[in-house]
Order: sequence, then structure tokens, then C-alpha cells
Amino acid sequence: MINLHKYLGIDVGTTAVKALVVSEKGELIDSYSKGLEMNVPKAGWAEQDPKNWWEKVYEILLEVSKKHEISVIGFSGQMHSLVTLDKEYNEIRPAILWNDQRTSPQCKKATDMLNGEKNVIAKIGNPFLEGFTFPKILWIKENEPENFSRIRKILLPKDYIIFKLTGNIGIDYSDASGTACLNIKTNYWDEEILAKFEIDIDIMPELYGSYEIRGELKENLKRELGWKNVKIVSGGADNASASFGIGVSKIGESMVSIGTSGTVLTITEKKQPDLSGKIHYFNHVMYGEQYYMGVMLSAAHSLNWVKNKFFPTSDWEEIESRVNQSVLGSNGIIFLPYLNGERTPHRDPNARGVFFGISSLNTENDILRATMEGITFGLRDSFELIKEKTDIEDIRIVGGGAKNKTWAKIIATNFNMPIKVPQIDEGGAYGAAMLAALGDNQQLEDVLGWIKFKEIIEPDNNKKTIYDKYYDLHKKLYNSLKEDFKILAQIQDL
Ligand code: XUL
Repeated sequence: MINLHKYLGIDVGTTAVKALVVSEKGELIDSYSKGLEMNVPKAGWAEQDPKNWWEKVYEILLEVSKKHEISVIGFSGQMHSLVTLDKEYNEIRPAILWNDQRTSPQCKKATDMLNGEKNVIAKIGNPFLEGFTFPKILWIKENEPENFSRIRKILLPKDYIIFKLTGNIGIDYSDASGTACLNIKTNYWDEEILAKFEIDIDIMPELYGSYEIRGELKENLKRELGWKNVKIVSGGADNASASFGIGVSKIGESMVSIGTSGTVLTITEKKQPDLSGKIHYFNHVMYGEQYYMGVMLSAAHSLNWVKNKFFPTSDWEEIESRVNQSVLGSNGIIFLPYLNGERTPHRDPNARGVFFGISSLNTENDILRATMEGITFGLRDSFELIKEKTDIEDIRIVGGGAKNKTWAKIIATNFNMPIKVPQIDEGGAYGAAMLAALGDNQQLEDVLGWIKFKEIIEPDNNKKTIYDKYYDLHKKLYNSLKEDFKILAQIQDL
């Protein structure tokens, strides 16, 4: 009897751990999801307990093992979030997450110490931004010296899980490029930066390819799960994995993704970071390829917030129908989606959400539509910046917007480009399963052949110019409010 291989793709996300069982031909066999809580100890901070990720992964593995024999497990995970381990490899403190904004002073100081932002970008591909890993290490060093002195290793979320499964302490190149201390010329830890800030290079994990094998499942886990030989591959950063999971693999191919964060990502042939620091430059999961990316911090998060607070009993179908009961421009309301500050294009941890232009004629449906349009304008900010740097030839959508046709149409019209909707829209977990297949020696062309599209959403040319007018006002609004966001932050800090 031929024993067909099955792969497990696990995404260690912010709101959930998701896992997919995928056949060796790419068919989706089963899917699992376990919700996660995020702790906000202070406004602008965001933490999670790594043990919680492990509990959820373990519960999922137990469920999977009752039905499936798995050959290879691949990963995708939150980028940048920092896990610290002591000499016994126990967690020292909660993980500080990618959307945590506490490190502004460390970013500024580190940039000054390295002679300014352009020098930093030339070394590591990006400026030091609040969300990135390295400034978080510096924050612990300055604010929790006792914890800092106990750090034996740092890890990212998916790699913490890989450590739990195999004992291997490592990181793949796609996630390493998001730590803000990987040198883009050598693709190795930047020894100068580490030395300058007295960070022992030994705390950095070993570097691996995204479909390189990281080890075998530990014996005790094999016994508990009743599995025989299970290999673990690295997988990659969630954005890189999600884009790979919809086939983004060649220069010019792009993804727009609406998860908790919203991203626009394009593979570029330019081996050059964006020296203006507006868009990110990271390694893809295919070794040797890089992408540009813009990141808004609160995409689906903004819509979820509005839904949970004001429409708690509505399902997503009703939300879409309400959006359609409003009109383009939401009867004059513009929403700035900066609930937790913003990364691209403003790089402003103090920015906050705004509903602008409300009149007594407005309905609650206008509020919903304005939220969707405001998130779209935020994504368009990234799209326009990337377009200035590199060709965007083909764009595919994943996440909230892919499931909601009204939203996909608003995005296509704003981008003025057709948008492909993949048949399988499972985010990073599917890309992780594809990376598992590569780790199982499948050919890249075969694995990319798994990707099929169910439809192409065309832009609505008649509406583009009206959206342009609202979009211009959206851009102006942030500039008008920038100083006031700062004042608000100071008042709240008193
Ligand atoms: C990317 C980023 C987010 C996280 C979400 O730079 O910070 O998209 O990867 O997990």
C-alpha cells in the first residue's frame, strides 16, 4: 500500500493558532483554530504568554493525531515578537509583540548611536521601528536589567514552538530579517550593532532556510501523539508565508492581506532597501528573494473593534449588507484606522483612530462603511509607496477582504488593478504546509501548482476618481492631526 504523505501547516498568530492538514497534492483535508488572548498592560503595549501558544499548539496536535499521520510540519508566525529564555530555556517574561509600541526611546537612541537612519537602513534593510525585535531587547536591557541579565536565548513565536517540538533553537531568514539586527549584505547577525549595544551574539538563534529541516519531533511527543517519524521545517514570517501560500513567488507578484494587521507586499528584483524608511525590506521564504512591504497595524482589528463594540450581534453577512446600504464615501465620514498607532506610512505610535465628518444625517451603516474604506485607504498608502519603488504586476488578496466581495471591489478600485482571489484562503498556515512539502523534497513548481484562483475582481473605473478625492482628504487629515495626537499622548501620560 502506498503511504501518502500529509503535511501540517501551523500559524502562530496574534488572535489564534491555526493549523491545516494538507495532502501531498495540496488539498485541504482538515483545519483547526484555537483563539488567543492579547494582554495590554498599558496603552500601546501588547504581550502574550508563550506558554499559551504552546498549550494551543499541543491541543491542536492531540486533535490532529486522532485522525491523521503527519510526515512534515511547517510553520508561520507573528513577525518580530520577542520571546526571552533563561539558561534552563524557560521563558523569562511574557513575549513583547509586534504591535507593542513601547520602544520609541530605544529606537531613537539606537538610531543616533549608529549615525542616523540611513546608515541603519543600509545595514539591516529597515529603520529601527517600535515593533521590531531588536529595540525590544534594548527595552528589556534598560527597563528590566535583572531580566536582561538572565537572557540565554531570544526566539520568535514560531521558533519557540519549534523549540518545544524539537529542542532546536533557531530562526529562518525571513523572520531573522524582521529582527532589525540581520545584516542585509552578509545575511548574518550584524556583529557591529550587537557589539555596540553590548548584546552577546550568543543569545541570537542559529539561522536556517525556511524549508530546511529543524529536527525530528521529540520522542516523548511522538509517544504522546502516537506518531512515528515527523520532521519539522522552519517555515517563515507570517506575511512571507501567507504570500507564498497564494503563490507569490516571482518578481512583481504581490499580496494584499487583511488580518489583525494589514499588509501590501511585492517581490522585488531590487537588492536595495528603501532608504526613506517608509516601506520594509525583508527576506522572502524563498532564499535569495526579497520583498517590499507596507504594514498597517490595525486592519481587520479596526473592523472587529467597531463590530464588537457597536454591532455585537451582527454576523459578517449582515455587516457586508449594511456596508452596501451606505454609499461610496460613507456619506461624508472618513475613518483613520490608527487604533494602536500606525507603522506605514506614518511611523507614529501616538496616532489614534478618528471618525471625521459625522453629521446628523449619518447612519450606523455609514460608520461601518467608513471603517472599511478607511482601512482600504491605509492599505492604499502602502500600495502607492511600493509602486513608486518597484513594479507591481499581479496582486492577490488574503484574509478578511478576500472573503468579503464588497471590500475586495473597494480595494481593486482604489488600487486601480484587478485582484485575484485564491481558492484556498487560509493565510500563513497554508504557506507553512507548502514549505513542509518542500522540506519533504517536493519540487517548487509542483508545490506552486497547488495554487488556483476562484475569481478576479476588476476595479470599478467609474468610481476611482471619487475615491481619489476621499483618499486625498484621508492623507491630509493625518497631517492636520499629527501634532494633536502627540498632545493627546502627553495628556494621557500625566
Ligand atoms: C509585519 C508585522 C505584522 C505581523 C503580524 O511587519 O508586524 O504583519 O507579522 O503577525
